[in-house]
Amino acid sequence: MATVQFDPDHRLWLLTGPTTAYALRVAEDGGLRHVHWGAVLTLAQAVRLAEQPSPAASSFEAIAGVDELAVEGGPRFGPASLLVRFADGTRGVEWRYDGHDADAGHLRVHLRDRHYPLHVTMHYRLHPDSDVLERWTTVENRDDRRPVTVLRCDSAAWTVPHRGTYRMSHLVGGWNSEFQLRRDSVPVAETVLTSRRGMTSHHANPWLAVDDGTAGEEHGEVWSTALAWSGSWRITVHRDPVGRTSWTGGFGHDGLTWSLAPGETLDTPVFAGLHSTGGFGAASRAWHGYVRRHVLTHPAETRPVLYNSWEATGFDVDEAGQLALAARAASLGVELFVMDDGWFGARASDRAGLGDWTPNPVRFPAGLGPLVAEVRRLGMRFGLWVEPEMVNPDSDLYRAHPDWVLRMANRQRTEMRHQLVLNLARPEVAEWTHGWLDGLVRAHQIDFLKWDANRPFTEAGWPGHDDPDRLWIAHTRAVYQIMDRLRADHPGLRIETCSGGGGRADLGVLARTDQVWTSDNTDPVDRLGIQAGFSQLFPAQVMAAWVTDSPNVATARHTPLRFRFHVAMAGALGIGGDLTTWTEDELKEAAELVAAYKRVRGVVQHGTAYRLRGDGALTAVQYVHDGEHVVLAWCPVRRYGHEPAPLRLTAVAPDAVYRDRKTGTAYPGALLRHSGLPLELPPGDHASTLVHLERLG
Ligand code: DGJ
Repeated sequence: MATVQFDPDHRLWLLTGPTTAYALRVAEDGGLRHVHWGAVLTLAQAVRLAEQPSPAASSFEAIAGVDELAVEGGPRFGPASLLVRFADGTRGVEWRYDGHDADAGHLRVHLRDRHYPLHVTMHYRLHPDSDVLERWTTVENRDDRRPVTVLRCDSAAWTVPHRGTYRMSHLVGGWNSEFQLRRDSVPVAETVLTSRRGMTSHHANPWLAVDDGTAGEEHGEVWSTALAWSGSWRITVHRDPVGRTSWTGGFGHDGLTWSLAPGETLDTPVFAGLHSTGGFGAASRAWHGYVRRHVLTHPAETRPVLYNSWEATGFDVDEAGQLALAARAASLGVELFVMDDGWFGARASDRAGLGDWTPNPVRFPAGLGPLVAEVRRLGMRFGLWVEPEMVNPDSDLYRAHPDWVLRMANRQRTEMRHQLVLNLARPEVAEWTHGWLDGLVRAHQIDFLKWDANRPFTEAGWPGHDDPDRLWIAHTRAVYQIMDRLRADHPGLRIETCSGGGGRADLGVLARTDQVWTSDNTDPVDRLGIQAGFSQLFPAQVMAAWVTDSPNVATARHTPLRFRFHVAMAGALGIGGDLTTWTEDELKEAAELVAAYKRVRGVVQHGTAYRLRGDGALTAVQYVHDGEHVVLAWCPVRRYGHEPAPLRLTAVAPDAVYRDRKTGTAYPGALLRHSGLPLELPPGDHASTLVHLERLG
């Protein structure tokens, strides 16, 4: 259910989802004020809430309540969501309410400036099957002569009810250590989460959750939001001294401008918000449901077991080597073979060739055809690595079009990984990029692209353009458009988003891709933390996870094959090791583990996930789907005499009985909940187990 109610006397709207409600009103100054985000209320109760006095009223702060989209203007001193400067130098906005319309859970509230022809529509959309509220903003310059400079245009500002303390959960990290979950108390200050990199970034993710410090995995009120954007972004959390906490967020980082031409409209990306009452676990499950039903385009599809050649070969790619890997991969039960970097141009290292997207004639003398054909004959689909937004200066592309890259006059041109960024905001560059990708996919009926991006933006200029900053947004939109076009023209094509691992993982890119290359760090112990952070927002079916060699290339840690598999089985399983060096015993065990994954992957990928534990001694996740339960449990380190406490299952009915599909043992649900599931863990460190239960009744 999703309803929008309007009280005309108080000019107040109440949006109601399955278990939560959101209310806003038109204030005396014509702006929109926040009223409520939380439990379901009646319209009369929401009106009463709106009448409560501001805790901050004084001659130093005259705005009562918090704006839905704060502007500069009047006595407002917090972070603005919308900052504009008109052609005559006037800044700020004075609102006039301009009506509203609503249909099918989508409320549009129209505002305009009292003097200038600047029109804003604030969008609120609820789907009947979700408590996630989607918000975004449209700004339109209806002046027929003069532009308006937009200094900031956020998608939405979110406000939580007054509580004594606030805690913020967010994801931080870096390359090889993405999605580290942090829980910090929110200071009385403005706290900025941002990426200035032109990409979502490894370092911060545009998701955050706020609670009053008492929520746990399965209890407590949590307010969380996620921005659907894959370029630079900024979210500012503002807790003021009288206890109001809100955050405003949107695309672009601080300092960028957009000159809104006469007649031009700017639409922001969606900033989605979720209120939940069952702790961080329930919040994650609600996000997973939303991602499946309203973000992903192929949610019902089960992701294939893939093989990726990167860790096995690095840039040392050729037809014979790939054929050898493909034969072994097929014998393990792999369903999709992906050739990574190094297949094109003069790409023998990261120093050259990026941009020259034709197969290297020495490495692939007859082109990609023979490899693709053999991969298909082996019963696998074929995938290919590409990095469409980048170019090595040592490439034919750059020699022909040095002006196509992001650059600024009189500034150095910073190379990172020996590469530069193409300016896809330029229509001819975007067209060229779409052209070669389309031709490549068409020529070989390529099933899967791993779309990589291995450096951030620097010196992001556009010489000759009178509004160069717009490239920060236009580039990302061009990436989206190319992906959308490719997928429309090649309905079988699936795309993995990658930016040196998990540097571009967000709800914006997931609307046009099928999975995320979670991290270049494939060490299974490190992965436990990365995967737990990733699972806060994203469901298991989009979390690509490979089994690679031991010792691990990044950490030098030795781990058993079974442990590596069990960790990767928590998502969309892949294999990325050098199979030509695996022993017969390892290959046999790997084939058995792939088969075991295929028996449970429907539950893992399409089920509901419960993070049971993550206390260092034992990490465990339970997936539930159609009466089947899969439990994966991992003990990275064992201490003599200190075995982990029993693993109590969350999502079992006390009066039902559950049978272990492997051993046949039947467990009463009451015991699984209260005394736990007996775990048969092998001795020693890096112990793990997979239990597949079915509900008997
Ligand atoms: C970074 C990716 O994350 C890796 O998996 C691999 O594709 C390399 N790029 C290739 O250059």
